[in-house]
Amino acid sequence: MMLRMTVNGVARAVEAPPLARLLDVLRGPLGLTGTKEGCGEGECGACTVLLDGVPVNSCLVAAGQCEGQAVMTVEGIHDPGGALSVLQRCFIEDGGAQCGICTPGMLVAAEALLRENRDPSEDQVRDAIAGNLCRCTGYQRIVDAILHAAKRKREEASPELGSEGRT
Ligand code: FES
Ligand code: FES
Repeated sequence: MMLRMTVNGVARAVEAPPLARLLDVLRGPLGLTGTKEGCGEGECGACTVLLDGVPVNSCLVAAGQCEGQAVMTVEGIHDPGGALSVLQRCFIEDGGAQCGICTPGMLVAAEALLRENRDPSEDQVRDAIAGNLCRCTGYQRIVDAILHAAKRKREEASPELGSEGRT
């Protein structure tokens, strides 16, 4: 089938079997290799993307389900112009990014959370990334990075709240 989707804000059309995994369409013909395959069976979250704003495991989504929908991958998280987003910078600064397998999915899951909730609690952050496995960090640094990003984004939206992140 000719699959038409909006990917990271750009209209794309690609030939793909209807039952091809979205993960393979993204990494193959669309060349978006930031989305990673960990388990390939919906357990690890490494392949997380947003489908019409909702986090999904792209290894479990058939291409045919995505016709006409909007997909956002980790490549779409940056700020306009290509600079790293606040969330990406906090992952780097706080040691939340240690390997390239889990980090893309963590970022996408966190992005989905922060779009819905600008002031999440630690429990809400842990819930948001509950489907994303990391074998390295013990999660605390990832959680800290997401909370830090939320705080910075609030401050940027309301500068009177503080000065961090406005340099
Ligand atoms: S690769 Fe999709 S959930 Fe693990
Ligand atoms: S940092 Fe990637 S698995 Fe933990």
